[in-house]
Amino acid sequence: MNTIIINDNNIAVPARIIREGGLVAFPTETVYGLGGDAKNPEASKKIYAAKGRPSDNPLIVHIAEIHQLYEIVEDVPEAALKLAEAFWPGPMTLILKKNEVIPKETTGGLDTVAVRLPSHETAQALIRESGCMIAAPSANTSGRPSPTSASHVVEDLEGKIDAIIDGGDVEIGLESTIIDLTGDTPMILRPGYVSLEDVKRVTGAAEMDPGILSENENVRPKAPGMRYRHYAPKGSLIIVEGQQEAVIAKINALTEEAAKTGQRAAVLATAETADRYRGAKVYNIGSFAREDEIGRNLYRTLRTFDEENIELIYSESFETPHIGQAIMNRLLKAAGHRIIKA
Ligand code: TXA
Ligand code: MG
Repeated sequence: MNTIIINDNNIAVPARIIREGGLVAFPTETVYGLGGDAKNPEASKKIYAAKGRPSDNPLIVHIAEIHQLYEIVEDVPEAALKLAEAFWPGPMTLILKKNEVIPKETTGGLDTVAVRLPSHETAQALIRESGCMIAAPSANTSGRPSPTSASHVVEDLEGKIDAIIDGGDVEIGLESTIIDLTGDTPMILRPGYVSLEDVKRVTGAAEMDPGILSENENVRPKAPGMRYRHYAPKGSLIIVEGQQEAVIAKINALTEEAAKTGQRAAVLATAETADRYRGAKVYNIGSFAREDEIGRNLYRTLRTFDEENIELIYSESFETPHIGQAIMNRLLKAAGHRIIKA
């Protein structure tokens, strides 16, 4: 298949492709999505095939108007309305009981549906112009880091989908916060730019899925997609935790060891600490004081490790105030939960 790359001011062509059951990758404020008509089961099957994604892992339905939410769910609870008012359009996905409109092929066989109203103008234009609600997972090959620029989508999906809309680099760089509203208390199934504290401020009570926090592999995350191995670079990634000076000393000792055995090692550090490391290539993920920068650079940097054939990566821990939970959730998955205490 020939994949066409489209400039983001030309929406008519990709909109028609979606309407006709084809697949288009498009930018959102979080990461690039791989879109198809959410009501068309054949389009959803194609999405799973292009990503190599297990078909029991449900897709997110993207809408451009709040009334579209009412079209596809059984009931809109008060918490959903409050959250929508506070964070839509934006990086938040709500899980609600579905009605018959969205087929089970799109929801991985579940009787709930994930819905998001993105703020990115191109995403909104594509939804409006196509006249469809757009089912879209992140536009990466299953298991790889989510794409934060069109070039990442090209790397993973060129030749497998009809079109890619190039809208430049994304703003946030981490996937949306997923909030399950089907239980008694709103539950975050995937941390993101909208934090647990943000949700609590709006709904009163809210909790984090215990499966996300636990290092015990027997406590399974509720969102199917959070159970799979994800984001991991080919090289082995290890997080070093502790007081800053101790971490720097420990990582320097570890990279020195790696150099002796001839392994290609790298360090993932912040702007504040990058020049404290020696003996290995240092990747500066951004300033600790500007956590948005760390969020935006994480997936790009994980992809770079593969391009440069890095065999061993030692990373600092990035527990920043607002989105630290989202950043560390992704980094821990990429590291397969390997942590060294300094
Ligand atoms: O920011 C985002 O959310 C991006 C952009 C493109 O919108 N999309 C995204 O989609 O990250 P994806 O498919 O990579 O991740 C969706 C996650 C998966 O972990 C999936 O298991 C979960 O949402 N999910 C979807 N529907 C669900 C449902 N009904 N119940 C529980 N989890 C659900
Ligand atoms: Mg994904």
